[in-house]
Amino acid sequence: MTTSLHSLLPWTAKPLIINGPMGGFAGGSLAAAVTSAGGMGFIGAVYDMAALDRELSNAASALSASPTFENSRTKEGLLPVGVGFLPFLVKLEDALPVIAKWKPHSVWLFAAREHADYATWAERIRPTTGGKTLLWIQTGSVSAGVEVARLARPDVLVLQGSDAGGHGFEKGAGIISLLPEAADALADAGFGDIPLVAAGGIADARGVAAALALGAQGVVMGTRFLASKEVMMPHPAYQEAVLEASDGGQSTVRTKLFDTLRGPNVWPELYDGRGVVTQTWRDHVSGMSLEEIRTLHKEAEGREDKGYGLKGRVTMWAGTGVGLVREVKGAGEIATEVREEARRVVEGLRTGL
Ligand SMILES: Cc1cc2nc3c(=O)[nH]c(=O)nc-3n(C[C@H](O)[C@H](O)[C@H](O)COP(=O)(O)O)c2cc1C
Repeated sequence: MTTSLHSLLPWTAKPLIINGPMGGFAGGSLAAAVTSAGGMGFIGAVYDMAALDRELSNAASALSASPTFENSRTKEGLLPVGVGFLPFLVKLEDALPVIAKWKPHSVWLFAAREHADYATWAERIRPTTGGKTLLWIQTGSVSAGVEVARLARPDVLVLQGSDAGGHGFEKGAGIISLLPEAADALADAGFGDIPLVAAGGIADARGVAAALALGAQGVVMGTRFLASKEVMMPHPAYQEAVLEASDGGQSTVRTKLFDTLRGPNVWPELYDGRGVVTQTWRDHVSGMSLEEIRTLHKEAEGREDKGYGLKGRVTMWAGTGVGLVREVKGAGEIATEVREEARRVVEGLRTGL
């Protein structure tokens, strides 16, 4: 039987809304707002462990006001937010002290160079908090899901479809076929107990209801939270572009080009990333050399808007759900509204049949 994700996250309300650990975008205020609203909030780490420490501290202060948690901790003494790491980028030795200090409720791993690296991280993280911290792994194919389950036995498996904003599998399927096929394959391989969560292209209640129908116990939204009050944005023009962009299959693109603009691509071969179509992409399509694209990109970064905006050149990671993102709201409000509306959608389906 599949483990109930709700039993692992007792403060959360159903259906479970999770914010993606968007490195450099999802900080402590965003994560705390989502958790306080009965969701699961994640902070996204990149290289800088001192910055992560500050964001965890922000989350702890924000949660100290919450009546749900005593001294901003769960009954088990964990900080009720998660932290997302990119194991190909961060050294495990640098991550462990931060985990030991803050004891986050969950640790999320994504984009290890080898699947076996997830097992190494899992083995080292678990004892750091006496086995209490939950391990989430995000991956992007049926076979990778089974392999990751076999090697690292995550507590939660996040299946990321190709509509997702930011990085993901270059060869991907949409969540609508990925999740149920992965659920079947995992059950066949003896891992049917692992709760599954859907990510990629879900930006409103209708997407959440669909993900539940596919067999997900929760939904990760990244792009939708780019239009939250708490998100950390490199420039307001980025958020404006997310609000302006529509018809996500046309206004965003998956490519490795975005990873080569400031130098060599450091991402493992398996990954590319989805971002808003910029002048950089249009120039690439019309045949401009990478050298020239890089020169223009550097120039654009020096401008007042730092090169962001629909006519800009600097990468703005976002998923195909951008067209559904129309206004900026508090992250807690987003989590609550989407959750409550999803319940109405599901109820409407039930009564309409
Ligand atoms: C701006 C941005 C940054 C992201 N950074 C990370 C990251 O650092 N680590 C990670 O595991 N996922 C990252 N993601 C992917 C999310 O975890 C999630 O899979 C994705 O946002 C879901 O798709 P959606 O954007 O369509 O909601 C990022 C996504 C976005 C939009």
